[in-house]
Amino acid sequence: MLLAQVTDIHLGFDPDNPVEFNRKRLDHALKLLCEMTPRPDVLLATGDLTDRGDQESYRQLKNVLSNLPFPVYMCLGNHDMRAPFREQFPQVPTADGFVQYEIDDGPLRLLILDTLEEGRHGGAFCETRAKWLADRLAEKQDKPVVLALHHPPVESGIAWMNTNPHEPWVQRLAETIAGHDQIKGMITGHLHRNVSTSFEGTSLSICASTAPQVALDLDPIDPDHPDGRNMIVADPPAVALHWWNGKQLITHFETAEEHVMLARYDESLQPLVRALLAEHRE
Ligand SMILES: [Fe+2]
Ligand SMILES: [Fe+2]
Repeated sequence: MLLAQVTDIHLGFDPDNPVEFNRKRLDHALKLLCEMTPRPDVLLATGDLTDRGDQESYRQLKNVLSNLPFPVYMCLGNHDMRAPFREQFPQVPTADGFVQYEIDDGPLRLLILDTLEEGRHGGAFCETRAKWLADRLAEKQDKPVVLALHHPPVESGIAWMNTNPHEPWVQRLAETIAGHDQIKGMITGHLHRNVSTSFEGTSLSICASTAPQVALDLDPIDPDHPDGRNMIVADPPAVALHWWNGKQLITHFETAEEHVMLARYDESLQPLVRALLAEHRE
């Protein structure tokens, strides 16, 4: 099973511009996924779908996503708003008013979590949401699960985008998933960079954005003294491909750009390919 991921689309950053930068970047990322062989089975869009959470941006998103050759499952991020989202996507299930739902159509069970607290940049995961997750994890315990959520519940080292691991919502999420070995991976966005780490004994991968990205800088930041450091960079739009091989989740990160091709599979590389494959059979 192949799960594609896009995240942090931020549609509507440049409102009233039908060919805005973020829209073009999203189109490049989706074209890459649509033309891929094998084609992804599903697409997860892990939040910050829009920049301002407005109806028009969700309407535009609905148009963009309506003709894709795979189902799309969405999470909400801190730039989203539940009411306008639900207005445009009434078919997306909710639980207790939160955009949390289960997709159980293939070999993996996907649990989509809602970490949005409107008006706050960082994540949230209240008792109500935790109870929903605990109830889902108590069911079908033999089936492998992947959790998809917007906010990574881990420190990144990028000071202005950090999550404090001692925040109550992080602790609550950790307690809820503790001991559930059926969770085979967590996939998130929010950071606008590719990062791989772990959380509560499971792998956690953070996919970079289709929108412009956060510059890599692990130096502490002083809120009282702007030091001119790079903050946002327009590196190529990113996607992730999470391949479930029946046992593990294997994550690849890719960029939607014209790659500089240095070698193709022709007769000159055939001996190498034959030798490598022969070794695999040993
Ligand atoms: Fe974002
Ligand atoms: Fe975010």
